[in-house]
Amino acid sequence: MEKRECPVGVFDSGLGGISVLRELVALMPQENYIFYGDSRHAPYGTKTLREVQRLTLADAEYLMDQGVKALVVACNTATSAAIRILRERYSDIPVIGIEPALKPAVLVRAHPRVLVMATPMTLREEKFRKLMKRFEERAEIISLPCPGLVEFVERGELSGERLEDFLREIFAEHGKTADCVVLGCTHYPFVKEAIQKVLGDQALIFDGGAGTARETKRRLKECGLLNPSERRGTVLLQNSLHTAEMEERARLLLEAGTFQT
Ligand code: DGL
Repeated sequence: MEKRECPVGVFDSGLGGISVLRELVALMPQENYIFYGDSRHAPYGTKTLREVQRLTLADAEYLMDQGVKALVVACNTATSAAIRILRERYSDIPVIGIEPALKPAVLVRAHPRVLVMATPMTLREEKFRKLMKRFEERAEIISLPCPGLVEFVERGELSGERLEDFLREIFAEHGKTADCVVLGCTHYPFVKEAIQKVLGDQALIFDGGAGTARETKRRLKECGLLNPSERRGTVLLQNSLHTAEMEERARLLLEAGTFQT
């Protein structure tokens, strides 16, 4: 197979990265994709740094063994823990990571109040601290670790009382005064409606999926790796749990962005 026709490998700790995959497919429908979700080990965000680095390298290797031409780390946690190691190890292909979409959020008005929802690891690691430093003079940035929220998405609970109660607790202190919220974990766009409902319409919500897709396109183009085909490409969904239920959830998220069809 010609290199340009090889698939783009996309991975996450579980189903969340499908929110990025949807943006990739929308922007570059002619590409072939393999998505790997490591739901067996989700969540990553509450594990140790070393454990997440080990799991992330295993995810990447699983995709590399299938001949991918680029790697998209569709997980903020894995990106903050291991992007540097991945880029060193796979220096001959584009390796694209994701980070919380702080930039568009701080521009919504003069000195806005920005809540960044993410896993404890993402918010703790150096990568985010550097990002925050870049923007701290232009906004009041509040880190909101959300352990437990990834699990709602993994078990297919994208709406309902239990989720709303959980979110109300998370937003108890800062929710009312926030101008915007950054979804710094790729699972969270799938519960965006519930987040908006709990916060109210005044809060603008941002996520990094579309920006990551644009960056992936830019890198593929730069490396002469864009698929020249005019036909729609294929999307292969893989999950470390290997169950029919997980396959079905992944398919529904990809096609509909939700489980209610
Ligand atoms: N989707 C991952 C992220 O973007 C979730 C991490 C986790 O598994 O805790 O951070």
